[in-house]
Amino acid sequence: MHHGPKLLITRRWPEAVEAELRRRFALHFEQDDRPLTTAELRQAMLDHDIICPTVSDRLDATILSVPGRRVKMIANYGAGGDHIDLDAAAAAGLPVTNTPDVLTDATAELALTLMLMASRRASEGERELRAGGWQGWRPTHLMGRSLSGATLGVIGFGRIGQATAERAARAFDMKIVYHGRRRSDPAVEARSAARYAASLDDLVGEADIVSLHCPGGMETRHLVDTALLRRMKPTAILINTARGTVVNEADLAHALGNGTIAAAGLDVYEGEPAVNPLLLELPNAVLLPHLGSATVEARTAMGMRVIANVDRFCSGQELLDRVC
Ligand code: 8YV
Repeated sequence: MHHGPKLLITRRWPEAVEAELRRRFALHFEQDDRPLTTAELRQAMLDHDIICPTVSDRLDATILSVPGRRVKMIANYGAGGDHIDLDAAAAAGLPVTNTPDVLTDATAELALTLMLMASRRASEGERELRAGGWQGWRPTHLMGRSLSGATLGVIGFGRIGQATAERAARAFDMKIVYHGRRRSDPAVEARSAARYAASLDDLVGEADIVSLHCPGGMETRHLVDTALLRRMKPTAILINTARGTVVNEADLAHALGNGTIAAAGLDVYEGEPAVNPLLLELPNAVLLPHLGSATVEARTAMGMRVIANVDRFCSGQELLDRVC
């Protein structure tokens, strides 16, 4: 019999983490692994002590401020917190934690995957081959552009932006230019020989690849729109492993269709799991289904990090990864 807090795990987690959770807590798993509805989330606030949501659960103010709530903590499975109304959580005195660090490598790897796929036209080639359309080798077949020595523009130079930059610099000898809210320490810049661009316009004007690593939310909503896309090189590639809302998807689809930029590699979308139908038609859009942290290593470590935060909360210690 468990006497600890009652947890709700909204989606299925990797086996090793579920086993650890079962050993330690009284909990409820949503067995059918689908996003919870607003009504279900509101009810969950009344029935559990701690909710462990993911990006697929929209925790808005009406849910977080439900009268008579039992929930005392939100321990998010994931780094990004833009699906949770953090102002409303703070107003309700509800601590929220996330799982940074443990998915940094996996997400940086996926950003590089998208860079390679988009620059070397990998999805186009595979689609052609599977459709039986490959007519054999020829000198001008599906020529892409090399990453080696190209300039990578990183927007948002936090943990994932830096990890992406370091790998790009080391593996492909890419030149790194970055923009963030403020300039990073010289020691951080030195790791990828990164140069600070004072404005977004400066950055996108010189980058061959622009990769987004800023948080989602109102501040960054539609940061990439027609105006910014027009400042990019016509040979440039846009990569988004951050949040779909950072890019105006319709503007991007038009830019890809009319040659304003060359290609895009996307892992996140404005209305997931819906994808703008215009993008689906474009051969120069590489489209992945939000796989940034999808490695056994990262997804397991994310779960263990949630448990570490819950443990701290239960024993009254300072939370590891408090976001509000
Ligand atoms: C997570 C992500 O898998 O952590 C994030 O911010 O985007 C993904 O890697 C997902 O958000 C889980 O909540």
